[in-house]
Amino acid sequence: MRSIAIDGPAGAGKSSIAKEISKKTGFVYVDTGAMFRALGLYFIKKGIKLEDETAVARLLDDIDIKVVYKDEEQRIMLSGEDVTGHLRSEEAAGAASSLSVYSAVREKLLCVQRDIAKQYNVVMDGRDIGTKVLPDADVKIYLTAGIKERAKRRFFELVQKGEKPDIKKIERDMQDRDYRDMHRKNSPLAKAEDAYEIDTTDMTIKEVVEKILDIAALTG
Ligand code: DC
Repeated sequence: MRSIAIDGPAGAGKSSIAKEISKKTGFVYVDTGAMFRALGLYFIKKGIKLEDETAVARLLDDIDIKVVYKDEEQRIMLSGEDVTGHLRSEEAAGAASSLSVYSAVREKLLCVQRDIAKQYNVVMDGRDIGTKVLPDADVKIYLTAGIKERAKRRFFELVQKGEKPDIKKIERDMQDRDYRDMHRKNSPLAKAEDAYEIDTTDMTIKEVVEKILDIAALTG
């Protein structure tokens, strides 16, 4: 099976770009952040404090998480319920980042992620895909962009959904999340040694996609 790994901080453009690459290559798009978000919302709903590692670990075994593909889209099923529609909120993002420090959580999702990559050609995005999940990926990309640009992108995404976001708060939350993701002990966000770094600040999605497809052709 073939794989393209895309890592980087929040708002660097990973999911928009990975979706386009999936369309152009026919590889399955795997959004690993959605898996962490789904677990985050599950624990909030259960009233579990996300700082309580013991309580999180205790419940974790009871959760059946499955990723299925319907109309070429990834759907996350938690114990039989499709929770995909609830995952894009800032609350889910924060909860995902808090939970993602725990090794029990990472191990559970690592198995799911590697299983998918065994069955399909994938373009997988996240924080540790090139470093941990798929260390032998055919192509590794590390996407970055300036914090102001990343906050602006998230701001417009929320405005389009009819929300009235505060851009300063988005920027602060993003910085906190990046800090936590980069400084955790387990699989922190990092550029793999053999990843190509692309700064997307002044690039369109189309330009980034073309660049990645060029790199994939070169290395493929
Ligand atoms: O990509 P995203 O914004 O949906 O990710 C949400 C959080 O999930 C992110 O802040 C950290 C965590 N995450 C992770 O630790 N490892 C991944 N491979 C993907 C996401």
